[in-house]
Amino acid sequence: MKESITSVLREQRVIEPPKDFSLSAHISSFEEYEKLCRAAQDDPEGYWSKIAAELDWFEPWQKVLEWNYPYAKWFLGGRLNASYNCLDRHLTGWRKNKAAIIWEGEPGESRTLTYQQLHREVCRFANGLKRLGVSSGDRVAIYMPMVPELVIAVLACARIGAVHTVIFGGFAAHAIRDRINDAKAKVVVTADGGYRRGQEIQLKPNVDEALTNCPSVQSVVVFRRTGNQFITMHHGRDCWWHDLLSETDANCPAESLDSEHPLFILYTSGTTGKPKGVLHTTGGYLVGTTITSKWVFDLKDTDTFWCTADIGWITGHSYVVYGPLSNAATVVMYEGAPNWPQPDRFWQIVDKYSVSILYTAPTAIRAFMKWGDEWPSRHSLSSLRLLGTVGEPINPEAWMWYYNVIGKQRCPIVDTWWQTETGAIMLSPLPGATPTVPGSATKPLPGIVPDIVDKQGNSLPDNTGGYLVIRKPWPSMLRTLYGDDERYERQYWNEIPGVYFTGDGARRDERGYYWIMGRVDDVINVAGHRLSTMEIESALVSHPAVAEAAVVDRPDSITGQAIVAFVTLAAGFQPSSELQQDLKDHVCKEIGALARPQEIRFTEALPKTRSGKIMRRLLRDVARGEESLGDTSTLEDISVLARLRDEQE
Ligand code: PRX
Repeated sequence: MKESITSVLREQRVIEPPKDFSLSAHISSFEEYEKLCRAAQDDPEGYWSKIAAELDWFEPWQKVLEWNYPYAKWFLGGRLNASYNCLDRHLTGWRKNKAAIIWEGEPGESRTLTYQQLHREVCRFANGLKRLGVSSGDRVAIYMPMVPELVIAVLACARIGAVHTVIFGGFAAHAIRDRINDAKAKVVVTADGGYRRGQEIQLKPNVDEALTNCPSVQSVVVFRRTGNQFITMHHGRDCWWHDLLSETDANCPAESLDSEHPLFILYTSGTTGKPKGVLHTTGGYLVGTTITSKWVFDLKDTDTFWCTADIGWITGHSYVVYGPLSNAATVVMYEGAPNWPQPDRFWQIVDKYSVSILYTAPTAIRAFMKWGDEWPSRHSLSSLRLLGTVGEPINPEAWMWYYNVIGKQRCPIVDTWWQTETGAIMLSPLPGATPTVPGSATKPLPGIVPDIVDKQGNSLPDNTGGYLVIRKPWPSMLRTLYGDDERYERQYWNEIPGVYFTGDGARRDERGYYWIMGRVDDVINVAGHRLSTMEIESALVSHPAVAEAAVVDRPDSITGQAIVAFVTLAAGFQPSSELQQDLKDHVCKEIGALARPQEIRFTEALPKTRSGKIMRRLLRDVARGEESLGDTSTLEDISVLARLRDEQE
């Protein structure tokens, strides 16, 4: 037991890539990795050109990079199409009959779409969108369960140059409305429902409620997933997916788009209550996701790749859809919860489809640990050859469990650090090349130039906690925040002069390995879901009983962080457990269940500085109380994070 709570700062275990893995890996040694890093350093543009050449371009680019700080354009003059790269280019040889998507619904149904079939459905839906008047540059909001039609809708947008904005199915009406209005979406694609934990989840009613105040929306397409009899179709606005497709043909050539044509907007929480519309463009994003899928996951034609993320998050965009499909991989997609009907659903799926690469989040791994080894031990898991993790720091204990119990000490683990804004993986081991240390995302990928700095942007020595920044532009970086260049500059580039600021605190050890500690801003990461404290606070104060609210994070052994809200009540309201419940429900209704506070504490007043700022550090200490933290590393990180956060304020 002592062994398993080794502190991150003292973590000494080094796990070398298995020899047989290295032998057949795309990047097969540390020397090869270092050679790539040197090539990227000596001639960044030449390096990225070579990688971009792996995609199919309709027109070659004239210039690799135009860097007009802090605005980047990559592969200028080049023309391509993301959907063409994910589909059409795989249809000329044997891969046309290769499985692109193997889907399993939560109730147990299974569907497989080959590349040829997926291409056909994407073309038909793209024609359907055109019939609804969608053209290049128009925004299409997608609010769907994890069904193949979600991928079809995404790629259909990309095919005609429409900009998709996928809204996670767990968001409530209010959050949907904000996103649709910010993007000024013309069409919404949704479903009558979906399945989660044996329940039918409501999607269409949320869309209906959101659309009471979304003037830009002209049409809603509804995919029939559950056969829900109780949904309402609005005449003149709503149409069924199958009706729309009944008259469309399967001939829809992919548009030739400029490399900088917007591909999608994905909203993510920032430090204010208003979500940020992170904008990614076609060429650079596809270059980043294609090469990282290939190298980090060592993707081969024989693999079955399962990234368990929902497509509503960036991980799903990059590693369920664009990256793997651009590599012609076979992707597993699962609709529901990991513990339905029993806690071994994931392991059942791994065996059923012979999944060889599994990519999931630390929060899921910690939940599996809690549910007990008997669940994975009922299954062989012998098809697995590589494991990945993303979304939050993974504690060494969970890392070792993943390695021992799931990977049976055969499978390398790639702990991948990146963000919605970075588009693709930035820090990660390469599984055939990089020795891993539990809890560290190890080193930057070739061409990525991170650093640990102080508030002024000065590089810090090894093993000093500081701000994680990226010094050089990279192809899959966000281009701006949709419609808000000013916020883009302020948020990412002005805080620490001259570099991209990630919002994370981290340190680098003497071997150059990075250790991520967590956010230093007012972003909370609950179960790998990014939420802003202010977003939750504004949801709380919109309740008539609340005068003022302050939201902070508290370490949680499963979800990484949990939400604790301090609330002062408006005159005439009394603290009660019913009110606590009511306030929690209210946050769910406003934002979605993912933002549900774990605890609501009533307080007479909130601690404030003389200038009226809420003293969050104090509240964090109170919220943490005597909680047992389990992992001593967390304590050390917390004190460093507290210092970095103080400096920020
Ligand atoms: O704090 C970092 C954490 O997740 C944040 C990005 O969240 P999001 O944009 O939702 O993207 C999540 C999936 C890419 C980061 O600022 N994070 C992500 N990956 C890791 C991580 N923290 C530690 N280790 C990671 N591997």
